[in-house]
Amino acid sequence: MNERIENYPVAPTEPNPGRRTIPLIHERSRAGRRAIHLPKSDVPSYGFEESLLRPEHDVPELPQVSELDLVRHYTRLSQTNFSIDTNFYPLGSCTMKYNPKINEHVANMRGFAESHPLSPVESQQGNLELLYRLERALIDISGFEAASLQPAAGAQGELTGILMIRAYHQQRGDTKRTRVLVPDSAHGTNPATCTMAGYEAVEIPSDSEGNVDLEALRAECDESVAGLMITNPNTAGLFEQQILEVTKAVHECGGLVYGDGANMNAILGIVRPGDLGIDVMHFNLHKTFSTPHGGGGPGAGPVAAAAVLADYLPGPRVVPDESGSGNGDRLPLFRFDKPKHSIGRVKAFFGNFGMLVRAYTYILRHGKTGMRRIGENAVLNANYLKHLVADEFPAKFKRSCMHEFVATGAIFEGVHTMDIAKRMIDYGVHPPTVYFPLIVKEALMIEPTESESRETLEEFAAVLKAIAREASENPEILHNAPYTTPLSRLDEVSAARSPVLCYRG
Ligand SMILES: Cc1ncc(COP(=O)(O)O)c(C=O)c1O
Repeated sequence: MNERIENYPVAPTEPNPGRRTIPLIHERSRAGRRAIHLPKSDVPSYGFEESLLRPEHDVPELPQVSELDLVRHYTRLSQTNFSIDTNFYPLGSCTMKYNPKINEHVANMRGFAESHPLSPVESQQGNLELLYRLERALIDISGFEAASLQPAAGAQGELTGILMIRAYHQQRGDTKRTRVLVPDSAHGTNPATCTMAGYEAVEIPSDSEGNVDLEALRAECDESVAGLMITNPNTAGLFEQQILEVTKAVHECGGLVYGDGANMNAILGIVRPGDLGIDVMHFNLHKTFSTPHGGGGPGAGPVAAAAVLADYLPGPRVVPDESGSGNGDRLPLFRFDKPKHSIGRVKAFFGNFGMLVRAYTYILRHGKTGMRRIGENAVLNANYLKHLVADEFPAKFKRSCMHEFVATGAIFEGVHTMDIAKRMIDYGVHPPTVYFPLIVKEALMIEPTESESRETLEEFAAVLKAIAREASENPEILHNAPYTTPLSRLDEVSAARSPVLCYRG
């Protein structure tokens, strides 16, 4: 193994000119060329009101190309895109695990894919049963009382949970609570969520072991605290060793605890957050339960709550119909219900249904013992990789990590983490998350996930070692990487601040 790692092939150090000579689609455009020929319309034409029409000068000229050029254009774009189906993708905090194809097969079954959310409840019984069963499975896995599948993303689940906590305090007439405590190892969406919900986010530092500093936490706990938002395992890839003391301190001052469950992959089948004093938590189905993500969605961030908050969940929720008051002799088995103090809807209909089908398929496919193996292997893979690259990229915290670890790229003179990340692209690897969490200097946050083989982990370690050699022998190579992409080093600040989002010929 070591020989294979030491002799890993070197990636190109010059731009590949071939990639730049392929004409872009608008360069291929010739007046009159067509990829499709529409049949003559056989329905009466309808004239839109003038005010609804887009002015002609506002419509960019679209390329006119043949079907073959069009197919080549999109096929090439799809190959330029990086995906988990093409290469290793150790993007920390994102759990880019394999999305099993059976999920797609099931989600595309006609009864699921073609049903309309406004069709009568009697004709939707199979779909409602799936939603109900998924909710039960998530409750089982997490140890909570009830759940809602509505939120469309992790961040929306967080907002849902904090709004539930706010509604709880308001309902009790406890309106003086204005602050939410957030450890500095929390995900960035946590403080943003508090602010959006109208609370002041108060940062709690970590101790030298990467845990919440208990003394600092206790010093902030008073009657102005609405709650705590804690990510566990946290963004340093560590399990909060004093989680029971943390939740106790918050409860003792009358606050409630929000658990960011996006990192659930590491503890699946091993620990249930509902048993740790957490009152409400979101799942990222698009991380833990293998539904596809990246590129902005669609996601799914169901929220589960302990008994204290169950009545505040978004509604409607699917519940078994025990009333017996059905429709003739074909009684519906499931109906909708709104929890007593529900904060209301947070998403149209019942969430991103297709994603819920995929997640349920994944859960059924693995079963109870499979869940535990996912958690164990996610942790094993991360620790193995951490060990393989410990000399070149030491982890900030020395204790065993969970599903990911945070290394520092600050060990080479004149080379930044960004240079290392960009060079990985030339070796065919998606870079890990960089410069996050903020508590680690020049952070490289690496999450291999359980779905990768030992060989892939060793190849990645070989890549990191090769880059480390380049960094010490010829850092200039890294400054100009990547070389294998159609465009080399991009101006990411301008791209984020002034994005060009539409096609201009
Ligand atoms: C720990 C953690 N919390 C929250 C989120 C937010 O989830 P989403 O991107 O679905 O909004 C993420 C995203 O990866 C995360 O890693």
